[in-house]
Order: sequence, then structure tokens, then C-alpha cells
Amino acid sequence: MFDTMTLTKVTGAVCGSLLVYLFISWAGESIYGGGSESHGGEEVAQAYSIPVEDAGAGDAAAAEGPPFAELFAAADPVAGEKVFKKCAACHKVDNTNGTGPHLNGVVGRARGSVEGFAYSEAMASVKDAWTPESLELFLLNPKADVKGTKMGFAGLPDVKDRANVIAYLASVK
Ligand code: HEC
Repeated sequence: MFDTMTLTKVTGAVCGSLLVYLFISWAGESIYGGGSESHGGEEVAQAYSIPVEDAGAGDAAAAEGPPFAELFAAADPVAGEKVFKKCAACHKVDNTNGTGPHLNGVVGRARGSVEGFAYSEAMASVKDAWTPESLELFLLNPKADVKGTKMGFAGLPDVKDRANVIAYLASVK
């Protein structure tokens, strides 16, 4: 009746709920109970205290992780080729255009410069060359970076994905 998989699942579920229960009771205690309580005007010293870190700027910096430059220096073009699958519906790397312009040699290429591709005004009006840094900003949130772009893509939220896909693009000449 019980195979190993079922047993594993049940054990997992039990451990999981136990953990949730422990966390909730801990959280409840620290919100409602844990502090020093007064009994008949007499302060009861706290037996122990749980240090709770200030959710300040330090945490935000830690959540951001290493900066783009560092990740790009160690980026993996092979992983980037996988990320590029998200782009491949519109972009090709065989010197022909699709819904988007081809991306051969795009790192170092002037913006909006592929012959025969009908760019938006927004993309065509800036003529500086794409750098890893400007691509990083664009790919994070295309519509915020180039207002009026017709690239219908939400962006790559993970900075590692951005670093890897740019490393891949730098490898396609
Ligand atoms: C739904 C289609 C679509 C997807 C998906 C898409 N793009 Fe684009 N992309 C476009 C279009 C259209 C343009 C032209 C934008 C303009 O003219 O405003 C463009 C422009 C660009 C440009 C500027 C090219 C130039 O010649 O200046 C780059 C770089 C780029 N895309 C990279 C990417 C990458 C990398 C991905 C995947 C992470 C991606 N795009 C996903 C449609 C797409």
C-alpha cells in the first residue's frame, strides 16, 4: 500500500508543517509574549533576547547581490545561449531580420542601425553604440529604458540572465 515515494511525501509534508508551526509559534511569541512583562508593577527581566536585525539599507544591498560588472566578467555565454531562447522568437543571429532586427555583433553596434529594419523613432533617434552596460539597462526593462520602443518584451529580471545573454551576444559576430 505504501510505496517509498508516498512515504517520502508524507514525511516531507509532516516535517514541512512542523516547521511552519514552529515558525508561527516563534513569531507569535516574539510579537506578543517575548518582551519584558510586568507582574504587579515588578519588571521581570528578560531571560534571553533574539537579536532582530534592522531591516535597513544593509539588507537591500545584500538582496541585490554582486554588481553587474562582476557578474559580466564571469558570465557564461553557453548559459546565455539558453536565455536567448526568450529572444529567439523575434531576433535571429544569422544576419536576417525577424520581428526584431538581427543581433549579429550587437555589442559595439550603433543603436537602431540595421539596414532595412523599421525601428521605432525612439530606437532610431539615439545613435550611440551598444555597450554591455547599456544593454544591461535596456534588457532589465526595455520600455522604461527606451521610452516608445516597439520591442514587446517585459525584460529579464535576473541580473545573471542579463550578464549571460550579453556575453552570448558578444560572442556572435
Ligand atoms: C516580441 C519580440 C521581441 C522579443 C521577445 C525580444 N525583442 Fe529585442 N527587439 C524587438 C524589436 C521589435 C526591436 C526594435 C525596437 C525598436 O525599434 O524600438 C528590438 C530591439 C532590440 C535591440 C536593439 C537592436 C538595435 O539594432 O539597436 C536589442 C539589443 C534587443 N532587441 C535585444 C533583445 C534580447 C537580448 C532579447 C531577449 C532577452 C529580446 N531583444 C527580446 C523585438 C523583440
